[in-house]
Amino acid sequence: MMTACATPTPTPAVSVRDLTVAFARNGATISAVNGVSYDLARGEVLTIIGESGSGKSVMLRALLGLNSNSARLGGSIRINGVDMTQLDDETRSAMRGRDISMIFQEPSTAFDPVYTIGEQIIETVLRHEDASYAEAHSRAKEMLDLVSIPSAERRLRNFPHEMSGGMRQRAMIALALACRPSVLLADEPTTALDATVQIQILLLLRKLQRELDMALIFVTHDMGVAAEISDRVAVMYAGRFVETGSAEDVLLNASHPYTRAMLKATVHAGMRGQTLTTIQGAPPDLRALPQGCSFSPRCPAVQTTCQMAQPPSVSLSQTHMAACTQLPVSAVACRLG
Ligand SMILES: Nc1ncnc2c1ncn2[C@@H]1O[C@H](COP(=O)(O)OP(=O)(O)OP(=O)(O)O)[C@@H](O)[C@H]1O
Ligand SMILES: [Mg+2]
Repeated sequence: MMTACATPTPTPAVSVRDLTVAFARNGATISAVNGVSYDLARGEVLTIIGESGSGKSVMLRALLGLNSNSARLGGSIRINGVDMTQLDDETRSAMRGRDISMIFQEPSTAFDPVYTIGEQIIETVLRHEDASYAEAHSRAKEMLDLVSIPSAERRLRNFPHEMSGGMRQRAMIALALACRPSVLLADEPTTALDATVQIQILLLLRKLQRELDMALIFVTHDMGVAAEISDRVAVMYAGRFVETGSAEDVLLNASHPYTRAMLKATVHAGMRGQTLTTIQGAPPDLRALPQGCSFSPRCPAVQTTCQMAQPPSVSLSQTHMAACTQLPVSAVACRLG
């Protein structure tokens, strides 16, 4: 008997399921990430936006196993099919830089001030690959060329403090990409730079992401950047994704009351002629989150049901989801259908 042979679905570069991260501190539990799930393929860019303290950095650090020892993780994080939460420290650290890398807002987080840029890139290549010193040196130079640092051979001999902020950021990207990881995490990588350098670094990142076919998770407060760089946008509030979709879905057709409030409170291209309005109330206390929707105490559309249970994620279209009980009936019907 012949059996139909289905095309195998490619393993996502990143597959996160029900991720939770909590910190124990002074007898209290800080619930920073509260059940996040998503898949990301190579070549895709997911941008995460959300106010300060919503858990963006904790979520990214969890992917690398870089949160402090007091962090308790739940759920699973698969990078190219390997569950990072089940690995011992040594195996996980071998994957860092080789399969998954991170670039930070502040390059000093990535570089050791007492070694030259070249020494640090060469050391990374030697740690992860079966390469000779000469091969690792030539890779380091190639990486500086790739990120458009002029006079690469000379720059390899620079210490981090001998470079300008923009150059150091380029060098950090070179370090992160030296072993051609399939997943790159970028936590507000342009925020500390002046506007013209920001754009250059952003364009460079997008070009490299495409050329190296990486899955990129990008955290930003800048809606213009989110619109420019993303295939998908996720809005994070109190450790949950409250809305996800294409940049157009989320930024032009925002559905969740938090996304709408955040867009009204932020200066961005689409709001010419509109007045900025702040979001009423304060961000939630992560030591005592409300039982229902975490945004309900601040939500202008709140109903009694919102405070009783977590709202389910509702499909608004094939690409667009939001977690809110107050969405139109047609959206709920779409989810049930
Ligand atoms: N090691 C830790 N111990 C205790 N609490 C922590 C720890 N690290 C982070 N948190 C808490 O987790 C919450 C989420 O922090 P996180 O840094 O992820 O926010 P964020 O969304 O990245 O904010 P920002 O936009 O300001 O960078 C915050 O309340 C923070 O204080
Ligand atoms: Mg952060």
